[in-house]
Amino acid sequence: MLVRAINQMDNPDHAKYKKLTHAWFQPRQVRLLEERINRLARESVDRMLAHGGSCDFYNDVVVWYPLKVIMLILGIPDKHGQHLLDITRAYFGGGDPEMQRGSDLIDATLAYMDFFRGVARERRNNPTDDVATLIATAEVDGTVVGEFEASSYFVALASAGHDTTSATLAGGLLALIQNPQEMQKLRANRALIPEAVDEMVRWVSPVKHFFRTATEEYTLRGKTIKPGDHLMMAYPSANRDEEAFEQPFSFIADRSPNRHVGFGFGIHACIGMYLAKIEMVAFFRELLARVDTIELAGDPAWTETSFLGGLKRLPISFKISETAAA
Ligand code: HEM
Repeated sequence: MLVRAINQMDNPDHAKYKKLTHAWFQPRQVRLLEERINRLARESVDRMLAHGGSCDFYNDVVVWYPLKVIMLILGIPDKHGQHLLDITRAYFGGGDPEMQRGSDLIDATLAYMDFFRGVARERRNNPTDDVATLIATAEVDGTVVGEFEASSYFVALASAGHDTTSATLAGGLLALIQNPQEMQKLRANRALIPEAVDEMVRWVSPVKHFFRTATEEYTLRGKTIKPGDHLMMAYPSANRDEEAFEQPFSFIADRSPNRHVGFGFGIHACIGMYLAKIEMVAFFRELLARVDTIELAGDPAWTETSFLGGLKRLPISFKISETAAA
């Protein structure tokens, strides 16, 4: 195995390793970062407005923002941003040559591990107050976490926390552009943005699947699943289940209730969901306050992948709000 991260572990190891960062990702702790996340959201919208009246929303704006947030929580200096972006693209590029840019999943995993091995060593020598130090100096069963497990943990956080969020931001904006009445709802009442963000996660479902292996027999709607059977959990399908959602094929910004499974379910549920939500809410608050109109300015394009991702191009044109500009 090139990586051994929490998403690949079973209990008892899974619980031991997840516990190391669990408190750090809880709402109370994440809220302490809110001011710095708001600043990153503001800088991302600044970056968009600096393009004048049009840009590729995915590549010029939202591919950077979640990466900056991950770098903030792991304490990675800005100079490594481009390198991390390139590795992540290759990692999640699926079968898409445009995203892979000549390297495959194995190259990308090795590059990730190599980079984070350096971070783990650095944090052990110079501990700070970031998540990277927490992981690099943590103990499991009375022994300091090994370099392999620590680097794998970083890979899981950096990879899971990046493209999921940028894909949701881009796919969410496209849904708002294609459903002007929903955009209008948010403009009229910005307090709805948190609900809209949940609907974006349901709508985009950037994680397409994970696998599980059954450990005991279970019967689901007349179908018997046996121990050892491999099961694919198809999140986009669950999130459009007619029995769970009214009008599942409509994007409804203020959908309530919205019991989507875009962040997973059960012991492996997403550790970063509160962080991701705070990040996305901050971004849309900033965007809607500073931009009056947003339209499509070309054909959107999606990454060819069956695992994780979404848009890889979203050309838009926009009009900067006069009040915000003043
Ligand atoms: C819109 C953003 C996000 C979405 C839609 C998302 C979705 C998911 C899903 C579906 C899973 C798998 C759950 C399962 O196997 O049942 C997962 C796991 C995970 N996510 Fe996220 N995620 C997002 C953002 C983040 C962020 C920001 C981070 C961290 C900084 C993160 C870190 C993780 C980790 C470490 C796991 C593995 C958890 C485990 O196996 O116990 N994710 N996420």
